[in-house]
Formats: sequence, C-alpha cells, structure tokens
Amino acid sequence: MNSYPQHIAVIMDGNGRWAKNRLMPRTVGHVKGAANVRHIVKACNELGISYLTLFAFSSENWRRPADEVSALMGLFLQYLESEVAEMKAAGIRLRVIGDRSAFAPLLQSRIDQAEQDTAHNTRLNLTIAANYGGQWDVLNAMRAWQLANPNKTLQDMDADALAAHLSTADLPDPELLIRTGGESRISNFLLWQTVYTELYFTDLHWPDFDAAALKKALQWYSQRVRRFGRTDEQVSDNPALAPEQSASVLPDLGAGLKIS
Ligand code: FPP
Repeated sequence: MNSYPQHIAVIMDGNGRWAKNRLMPRTVGHVKGAANVRHIVKACNELGISYLTLFAFSSENWRRPADEVSALMGLFLQYLESEVAEMKAAGIRLRVIGDRSAFAPLLQSRIDQAEQDTAHNTRLNLTIAANYGGQWDVLNAMRAWQLANPNKTLQDMDADALAAHLSTADLPDPELLIRTGGESRISNFLLWQTVYTELYFTDLHWPDFDAAALKKALQWYSQRVRRFGRTDEQVSDNPALAPEQSASVLPDLGAGLKIS
C-alpha cells in the first residue's frame, strides 16, 4: 500500500456540464468550480498534502467563446484577490505556471504579488496551471536549456537537464493525477512529469468533487502497486525499491480527514 501522495495534480473538468444539467449558463459552473477549488485546497492542506497542482486554463482554452474566456479570467483574478490573505495565514505557497504574458496586465501583476506574498510558506505548495500546455512546457525547457548552455548541442542534454528547465523544476513529479468529468485523457497537462503517475478518472463533475470524493481517490491510490518499470517480484522481494509502499507509512484515512 502507498502512503498519501506527496503531489496531487488535478484536471478540473465538467464545470460546463454541471451547469447545463441544471439548465444554467456554463459560467455558473465555473463559479461553482472556483468555489470548489477553495474547498479542495483546504482539504489538501488539512491532510498534509505537500503539493497540489490544478489545471485552470489550458493553452487551448482560448478557443472558447470570448465571454466564457473573460469569465474565467475574471474568476481567476477574483480568486487571487479573495484568497491570498488566507493562503498566507494557512501556510500555502502559491505559484502559477504557464505563459502569463498573454494575460491582462492587472492579472499578471496580481499573480506576481500573490507569488511574492506567499513565497515563504512551506505547508502546501499550490500551483495553478494557467495558459499552460505540456508541449509548451517541454519546448520552453529545451529553449531555456539551449540559452543557458550556448556552447553545447542537444546531444549533450539529458532528461535531468531538461527537467531542471521545466516550469515545475521546483516540484516533485505528481504521484497521483485526478481527472473529473468522465473523460480519460491527459489533454496536454503535465506530459513530461506524469511518466509514472497513477491516473484516476471519475465521472463526477468538478463542482461535485468534494472532500469525500478526494478521500475515495486517495484510498484508490493507496492500493496501487508502483513498480517504476520493474516487475512485481522485484518490488515484493525488495520493498526498498518502492520505499513509499512500506507498512510504516500506511495512510489513516479515517483519522486524517477532518475536513469541513
Ligand atoms: C473545465 O470544465 C474547466 C475549465 C476549463 C476551467 C477550470 C476553472 C475553474 C475550476 C474555475 C477558475 C479557477 C480558479 C483557479 C479560480 P469545462 O468547462 O470544460 O466543462 P465541460 O467539459 O463540462 O464543458
């Protein structure tokens, strides 16, 4: 069995269908989705999860109707304005990954400010992926590596060198990726970082993904055998090959989940 994952990544899908099922505009689903971000961040912080990375806006989401894009931008701005003081007090460090240069100057400056204001927090590392794409991240990292190593060629680059230039260079790879909304795909999220990530798909729409649903995902994760390319026998004969699966770190989901 596994302990809690150190890093959970989430594709928050299904806001639009949540609203449509209730005969409401899609943007109402996003409002509910933003409220749920608050609940799940709090739940993860209470559980002692160290890293939570949320896919809030993909590079491809610009293709949505202009009013929906602007509603999402407005919600992001509102989220930063209303949550940062509480994050600061709760020990949450906020980072935003993605190409923020496409955002309005006000949003960019609020993002910079929020990152600065929470930079010394160490309890939960919350990363919001906004105007983010996994392919963009890898290409960007290659370019950054080349800029930092002008006298080398791509033949000199290895996986660690590339990873050091990804937008997630300071974060461990996620052990668990949750996607809500019933689809089973990665949709250009953390492509490089999810090579050994356990993928959990649920039909729940994001606004309905509550603390109990998170607990279910963690229980599912705790049953996964992580082999990292090895065989079952190698891992069971030598538990040190999969240290996080030792009996001493069994999760106590019942006691750990005091979530309001
Ligand atoms: C996917 O649902 C969701 C998004 C594209 C945006 C996610 C945004 C939020 C949860 C709110 C704002 C975020 C923050 C961090 C404050 P969808 O619209 O694709 O749903 P559908 O598949 O049912 O149409």
